[in-house]
Amino acid sequence: MEPIPGTMRAVIAEGSGGPEVLKLVERPVPHPGEGEILVRVKAAGINRPDVIQRQGGYPPPPGASDILGLELAGEVVGSDPNANRFPAGARVMALVAGGAYADYAVVHESNALPIPDGLSFEEAGTIPETYFTVWTNVFERGGLKEGETLLVHGGTSGIGTTAIQLAKAFGAKVIATAGSPEKCEACLRLGADLAVNYRNEDFVAAVKEFTNGQGADVILDMVGGDYIPRNHEAAALDGRIVQIAFLKGAKVELDFRRLMLKRLTHTGSTLRSRSVPEKAAIAQGIETRVLPLLAEGRCKPVIDSTFALEDVAKAHARMDGGEHIGKIVLRL
Ligand SMILES: NC(=O)c1ccc[n+]([C@@H]2O[C@H](COP(=O)([O-])OP(=O)(O)OC[C@H]3O[C@@H](n4cnc5c(N)ncnc54)[C@H](OP(=O)(O)O)[C@@H]3O)[C@@H](O)[C@H]2O)c1
Repeated sequence: MEPIPGTMRAVIAEGSGGPEVLKLVERPVPHPGEGEILVRVKAAGINRPDVIQRQGGYPPPPGASDILGLELAGEVVGSDPNANRFPAGARVMALVAGGAYADYAVVHESNALPIPDGLSFEEAGTIPETYFTVWTNVFERGGLKEGETLLVHGGTSGIGTTAIQLAKAFGAKVIATAGSPEKCEACLRLGADLAVNYRNEDFVAAVKEFTNGQGADVILDMVGGDYIPRNHEAAALDGRIVQIAFLKGAKVELDFRRLMLKRLTHTGSTLRSRSVPEKAAIAQGIETRVLPLLAEGRCKPVIDSTFALEDVAKAHARMDGGEHIGKIVLRL
């Protein structure tokens, strides 16, 4: 194992704005705190929340690193004496509240998972943020069950590609929306039963037709805005709508009668601000229910493109462009 240096490369946002505000800087290698492991990072996934943080709209929660990045994969190179889950050399993937775009990162051992055999660091580095988000929102909050129908907006996003595969693996039917014919084809290739190009088709009508007028049982939404009343329209009786972002705005005028008459549940959550024990509880669910699917290849991360850490601005520009399908990842 290579010796641990005193300093490392890391990416921060100097001010807020476009990809040009991202700067590669030198920082001290962090020391593991209570229950933490030190990971030599080999890959870090890029997520839309990183872009929103760079633009100034999603500051790190109190106590979190200002180094960007919410997920990583790498090798354990050290640990606090009270952290004994992973030996030195173990291949792990982990969720962090910041700090993944760096050569080394510390993470609580309970927020890390073993990388299933057969997955590369680059693949594993794109798993935690989207799998934790989809698991807790679609399955824990939304309670999606076998035989039910999931409607997922942004079907080719990191979140969407994960939601399609996991929902199918657990026996649900999936309708995905996306903004181009190519993106719709990608959703179908991933297993969606129906893909709706929202630019030229009304997703509410498409959902009603696909479900014989019943509607979707669970809706995972990152769009908000006018989608909020339309999601209520597209939902089935006792439907659950789970809000994970508001790309088109969080303020709308809404007639709540539909919520009452259809007995809808409209909920939501954010992952980053949750406590280490809360994230650990999500990790446990993933370890028992989802890692076997990844190990068997029944779910697989969809990698759009890979960039070297030095090219982080190019990687963010790719996400800003919105043409990506699946995940963009940094190699370290
Ligand atoms: N709450 C949480 O805990 C949590 C955690 C992680 C991520 N998120 C959120 O989940 C979303 C997806 O994250 P990601 O990293 O997977 O991002 P991403 O890959 O960049 O995906 C964003 C998606 O949004 C779609 N989109 C953008 N503007 C839209 C609009 N006006 N109408 C409809 N669709 C639109 C795009 O698809 P089209 O090109 O098809 O429009 C794209 O697929 C982000 O908003 C992120 O902030 C929330």
